Amino acid sequence: MKTYRIACIPGDGIGKEVIPAGQEVLAALAAARGDFGFDFESFGWGGDWYRRHGAMMPADGLDALRNKDAILFGSAGDPDIPDHITLWGLRLKICQGFDQYANVRPTRILPGITTPLARCKPEDLDWVIVRENSEGEYAGVGGRAHQGHPLEVATDVSMMTRAGVERVQRFAFKLAQSRPRKKLTVITKSNAQRHAMVMWDEIAREVARDFPDVSWDKELVDAATARMVNRPASLDTIVATNLHADILSDLAAALAGSLGIAPTGNLDPERRYPSMFEPIHGSAFDIMGRGLANPIGTFWSCVMMLEYLGEDAAAAALMSAIESVTANPALHTGDLGGKAKTVDVTRAVIDCLAAGVNGNRRAA
Ligand code: IPM
Ligand code: MG
Repeated sequence: MKTYRIACIPGDGIGKEVIPAGQEVLAALAAARGDFGFDFESFGWGGDWYRRHGAMMPADGLDALRNKDAILFGSAGDPDIPDHITLWGLRLKICQGFDQYANVRPTRILPGITTPLARCKPEDLDWVIVRENSEGEYAGVGGRAHQGHPLEVATDVSMMTRAGVERVQRFAFKLAQSRPRKKLTVITKSNAQRHAMVMWDEIAREVARDFPDVSWDKELVDAATARMVNRPASLDTIVATNLHADILSDLAAALAGSLGIAPTGNLDPERRYPSMFEPIHGSAFDIMGRGLANPIGTFWSCVMMLEYLGEDAAAAALMSAIESVTANPALHTGDLGGKAKTVDVTRAVIDCLAAGVNGNRRAA
């Protein structure tokens, strides 16, 4: 029986609530199916670690993760530590250290969830955003000089490489090709950003030649926000730079009903390193420690992880359990306007999994 080694990094805030919930659900799924197992190892890195050790994770922390099959990550962010330290010290250290260059963000309106878009039917919104996850605006290139003086200067340089752009666009074309509509929208801003974004467009045209069956178009990032709201059905797979996709994916999650639901995978498609799966929401200090967090974003991230591990049947079983739980408004957490707690949603998903597997066994 295959046992997957999973590193769990709850991080900060509600990450400490949703990641244990994710582990419970994965363990229940494995127990119900009986054909694979999980060996979880938890790492207490994040804000508390920083207070004790002056760093968000140990200097050799990546070595502890290197041999895992996947990483399940909660969130990083602490009211007492500057955001750029929590981000660069943990999440980006892992994403960039393991060259997880493709960040995949699926968005759908799940059963029982209402979109703020009055005229949008659930089937009109079925997107996957591919975010360049290793360079661009998050390259970390830049600096400050004359600090504290009137002539202080600061730069953040968006750095794009031909290889970096090509690999993520190739990934996005391939993903688009695997989806029923075979449709890709390349987000750009080459009207204003006349160097790197022009190269980005040129590379899209080149890569597209290898995917003649994928229909693709180009959209400026500002116009893309309006299109997501006004013509959601005109989009399917979307590829964008690190920062553009960061912004578009929050809009996407809100249009699909809540940030609490949205999942993501930070993938190394070449599988040289473990990939990392996480809910898109942050540490949400306003509700932390009260059992109010929506664990669905984590559960859906677990579905992505299972798909990545090749456990497609288990992934489908978990996704259908999630969907039958979201369909019941009595099981909605506060972000969805409901009163359910993290444990209620977790228990319901676990019950569903057990019922589903027994149902299957009876049918077989
Ligand atoms: C995301 C988040 C992060 C980002 C934050 C926490 C720095 O918003 O994953 O989308 O901007 O990358
Ligand atoms: Mg974001």
